[in-house]
Amino acid sequence: MVLITFLNNIDFMVINMEQIKTEILTGDCLDILKNYPDNFFNLIVTSPPYADSRNNTYGGISPNKYVQWFLPRAREFLRVLRPDGTFILNIKEKAVNGERHTYVIELILALKKQGWLWTEEFAWHKKNCFPGKWPNRFRDAWERCLQFNKSKNFKMYQEEVMVPMGAWAKTRLKKLSVTDKIRDESKVNSGFGKNVSNWLKREMAYPTNVLHFATECFNRNHSAVFPKALPEWFMKLFTKEYDWVLDPFAGSGTTNEVAQELNRNSVGIDILPEYCKLAKERTGNYQYRICEEEAEYASDNTR
Ligand SMILES: C[S@@+](CC[C@H](N)C(=O)[O-])C[C@H]1O[C@@H](n2cnc3c(N)ncnc32)[C@H](O)[C@@H]1O
Repeated sequence: MVLITFLNNIDFMVINMEQIKTEILTGDCLDILKNYPDNFFNLIVTSPPYADSRNNTYGGISPNKYVQWFLPRAREFLRVLRPDGTFILNIKEKAVNGERHTYVIELILALKKQGWLWTEEFAWHKKNCFPGKWPNRFRDAWERCLQFNKSKNFKMYQEEVMVPMGAWAKTRLKKLSVTDKIRDESKVNSGFGKNVSNWLKREMAYPTNVLHFATECFNRNHSAVFPKALPEWFMKLFTKEYDWVLDPFAGSGTTNEVAQELNRNSVGIDILPEYCKLAKERTGNYQYRICEEEAEYASDNTR
């Protein structure tokens, strides 16, 4: 869509405005996704219901039946994801009878059998995790963000998530040894070699696969909201503007709100109408966004 705006009767601006679409749909994602074509979404990013853990709010799935419950939905995710798209699954196994349950590990193996590549695992470190005391373990301060793909040739925009080099560079790169200036192969045969001097004069570096995000404490009337920073990071890494993002377990619509802010189209599905209402409230105030870089200006220089 192109809009021409007149400024002071002399200047005019051509604004290229493409409408971002946000669809919040109520129902089981297994059924709702049947209405979407194959190979449609660029990114699926979601935090599914955790096994039994939120039983008093939106119903849980027994840890022993988790894989069985998840697989038919994952088959739909596999169908609607583009061949170069990515699926990010934020999940963490709970402890049952004093030990960690294995349903997440079993799920990874079952998803691989279903046809997914298990490409990477990111750890989300919850920086502000609430302190606590348990008799046989310490407080849980991280969750998994599992990355699955349909092919090895998925879209990834690594420059979008670069981080400042940090203070270490000032001291470590100050005085370089001879080996720092050549590719130094690992002495323990790990296959990992590095040329430290490559990082001289660089301001930014690639991040690691540990993501340090604080949980958001404000009340969204949903008991398991993830921080906006989480879907935001993955959206920047795996999508471009106007791409399509899906959150099949959308809850309060965090993913969809972030998608709007980043100019991505999105679909959010939740089985509970009250959460869809919340998600619609969060995303309902969206206005057209002006794409500055595509604006053209003309002016009367005789003024
Ligand atoms: C962990 S919460 C997601 C929270 C969300 N990331 C947010 O920031 O608000 C999981 C959500 O999945 C929904 N859900 C459970 N089973 C579902 C299903 N079969 N289809 C769609 N949504 C489902 C629950 O109602 C719940 O809101």
